[in-house]
Formats: sequence, C-alpha cells, structure tokens
Amino acid sequence: MTNKISIDLERTLGQIDRNIFGGFAEHLGRHIYGGIYEPGSPLADDDGLRRDVLDAIRRLGMPVIRYPGGNFVSGYRWRDAVGPQAERKARMELAWHDLEPNTFGTNEFIDFCRKVGSEPYLAVNCGDGDMREARDWLEYCNGSQDTELVKLRRSHGFEEPHRVKYWGIGNEVDGPWQTGFKTPEEYARAYTEFAKVMKWTDPNIELLASAVSLWVPDWTERVQLLIEQAGKLIDYLAIHWYVGNDAKRGYRDDDFASYMALSELLEERLAAFEGLVYALCRANKLERTIPIAVDEWNVWYRVHNEGKLEEIYNLEDALVVAMHFNAFIRHASTVKMANIAQIVNVIAPIFTSPEGLVLQTTFHPFEVYSQTCGDTALDIHWSGDTFSTPEHSGLRVLDVSATLDSAGKKLAVYVVNRTETAATEAEIRLVEGRFAGPVRSYVVNGPDIKATNTFEAPEQVTTRQESLTAQGGSFTGSFEPHSVTALVFDLE
Ligand code: AHR
Repeated sequence: MTNKISIDLERTLGQIDRNIFGGFAEHLGRHIYGGIYEPGSPLADDDGLRRDVLDAIRRLGMPVIRYPGGNFVSGYRWRDAVGPQAERKARMELAWHDLEPNTFGTNEFIDFCRKVGSEPYLAVNCGDGDMREARDWLEYCNGSQDTELVKLRRSHGFEEPHRVKYWGIGNEVDGPWQTGFKTPEEYARAYTEFAKVMKWTDPNIELLASAVSLWVPDWTERVQLLIEQAGKLIDYLAIHWYVGNDAKRGYRDDDFASYMALSELLEERLAAFEGLVYALCRANKLERTIPIAVDEWNVWYRVHNEGKLEEIYNLEDALVVAMHFNAFIRHASTVKMANIAQIVNVIAPIFTSPEGLVLQTTFHPFEVYSQTCGDTALDIHWSGDTFSTPEHSGLRVLDVSATLDSAGKKLAVYVVNRTETAATEAEIRLVEGRFAGPVRSYVVNGPDIKATNTFEAPEQVTTRQESLTAQGGSFTGSFEPHSVTALVFDLE
C-alpha cells in the first residue's frame, strides 16, 4: 500500500506552547546529588552544578522545570533547604526512604534554572504541609516588600524577587502512596483554600491543580469537583502517566507491537480528559477552557541500579517518547505544558557517572522535537500500511504529526515508523503551496529496537542529520524501520 501524508497548511489545530518540552527534577536517587549537583567534582562549576549536565540540558531546550517533587514534595520543608549551608537541616525522607541533606534547595534550583534557560515551576507541599507554609514559600521567593520573609531571602544573597511564575498545589494527591493522600472532596477543598491564599500573596502566579495520576473510575469526579469548586483559581489541570513495554504499564510483556500501540492510550486519555474539561468549563460558565499540563510522563520500569531507581532506555523507548510528542502536538489546543519525568539519572534522558555522562536513547527524539518544532500544530491526514495487536486492529504503521513556524515558511513533519524490519515509503503531499527546495532531515535510529546507549557504547542510538531537497507539492521519503524522522521543509 502507498503511504500518504496529506498536509493542508490552512488546517490548524492550535498554537504549540513550548512548555510541552518541560522537565521535572525531584530529590530522588541520584537526580540532584550526583546528577545536577556535585560540589567538589572536577566537572562542577563554582556553584557545584555539573557543567556537562547543564550543557546537555541546554540541548534539550527545556522552557520550564518542575521541582522539588513528585512524591518527595509531600513531606518537604522548604525552610530546611535555604540559607547558609552549615545551617541546612538533614531530614529523614519518607517518599523514597532516603536521607535528605537539603544542601540543594530553592535558591540553588533557581540558579540552576537560570543557567539552563528554564522557568522554575515549584510544587508546594499539600501532603503534610499547610497553606501557611506554602504562602510563606511564595512570599520568600516572589515578595518585594520589606517583610520578614523577603528580608530572609535578601539575607541569603537574593536581593531581587525570583518571580517564580508556576506553582503546583500538591503532587499525585489521588494516590494512596502519597503522604497526605486526599479524596476528591478533600483535595478540591484544600486546593481552593491554598489557591485563594497563594493568589492573594502574588496575583501574577499561575497555579496547577494535581488532577489525575491514578486512572481509576473516580478520576472524572476529581476533575468535576475541582472545576466546580475552584475553576476560576486553576490555571492548569495536571495529569500524570508512565508507560512501558510490560503488562503493568503497557498491554502485555515485551511485545513490540503492543508497545507501539500505546499511541492509542495517549489519544484515549487526552481526548477523554480534554472533552471532560471542556464540558465542565462550559457547564460552570468559565470564560475559558482550563489547559492541561502533563507534568509527569515517561517510560518507567522501576529498575534499580545499586539501590537507586535508574533506567537504561533502549530504542523502542525512544520511539515511545517521540509518540508522546506527536500526541502533544496533535492536542496542542489543550496541552499547554508537559514535563518529562525526569531529567538526570532517575527515569531520565541523561545518565551520569562521576567521570562523565551518557545521552540515553530517549534524549535524541526529545532534542530533535524541541529544536525543530514550529509554533502551530497542523491537522494532517495520513493513511497507508497498518498493524494489529490483540487489543487493536488497523493501526497505522506510521505515527505522524506536523507543525508550521510563525512565518509560514518552515514545515516540520514528524514520522515514527513502527515497523521492526522494513523501511516504509510515504508520499508527503501539500494540498496547496510548494516546497522551496531545502529539507533538513533528522533520523533517530540504532541497530535494533533493544539497542541502548551505555558508557561502553554511548552512540548506539543517535541522531543522523542530512540535507535533502523537495520541489513542487509532493515529496516521497523512505522511513527506516524502528526510527523517528523529523523532516523540516522550506516552503515557497
Ligand atoms: O517521577 C517519580 C515519581 O512518580 C514521582 O515522585 C511521583 O509523582 C510519581 O509517582
């Protein structure tokens, strides 16, 4: 069968918010200590931040980074981790059962964000913390009057307010694993009060409500109560998920076709969630539809390396990361933030040792999408070869999305080829308009779907760049098996 991707440049889906390329950094395992922050290392800068890690994160172009958790935040005391290092308080940490030295805290994190060009996004403790603690943290960070807390920040060396824009209230409050798990009623109530007081403290902030992470039937009730009780105080509704090529997180164990069919789960969740939010916002007469933040997503198998949670990703995981970006682009009108969980060592595209780092397979699609993505998502149509799994039939072998830049002169087409053995040819046809010649091609691929990048073999899976040409209104490309391709066309 001939594969056809048909693109009408006037059929748009919505503006892409660059915050879909966000990240998430938690005090967990070697993410902060030994990942981002390693004072005394020859690789660290004067602030103890790993220079090689900063460089790698800059390549990912993350506009926003969420911190400090995750489950960790539900027992966090921000005051333990500000001020002179000698006065920092080590604590027993109950989310991950670790000792938290608190030598890295708010100010170190904000310095780190500034160095990688990201906006900080802080989550407040809505587990065993109260709204006073949350609003105090906000005042410490963003206040400008001569208050006790602002003076405290100044005494710590930060004269100017940090102006932290994004604040999340709690983390995965719907999970019984969370310190301070909340029923739908309890969280809607707590959110309303935290949000009210936080917006009084700084009306310029944007607040994220922790909506759904456990996709069990009461998720719709959670969203309903939040919107009914606090709709006007919610700037984003946050949802989480983790997937994997196993029966727990996918459909069946180590089955490539079923793993590739996860695109359907992403579609199903996003379509259901955005539909529900749309209906509830109308029913409650809100002037706008609350945007979605997928503020934790990734492939995660819960693999431990010497007691620490550390994944080594393979090529098929990189394809799944690319399918996430295709889904976020196709849902650009509602998904306005997404944060890969996480960034370094723990569930992460960057893996460090004391001597250096490896860019994991999943790093490469993230970098390619982030660096080439346009401003507008296009509503494209494609058809062609299909595959089936025990749960699905007729799934298109290619998973596709496309974007246009603001000048209307660059078209980016993203193609994940979900075949394991054969290259797939596809015609990309413009309904109107013409290609102007130059095409930049980026192909993420490796020898086989289980290929990994390790310190011994760091470049099994990489990105290959090529220059191609396209004239007229049609271009035929050959897409390698198990690959991610971005084609960036100049338009006339
Ligand atoms: O990212 C790891 C953990 O996954 C986070 O702490 C939690 O929010 C989620 O369950």
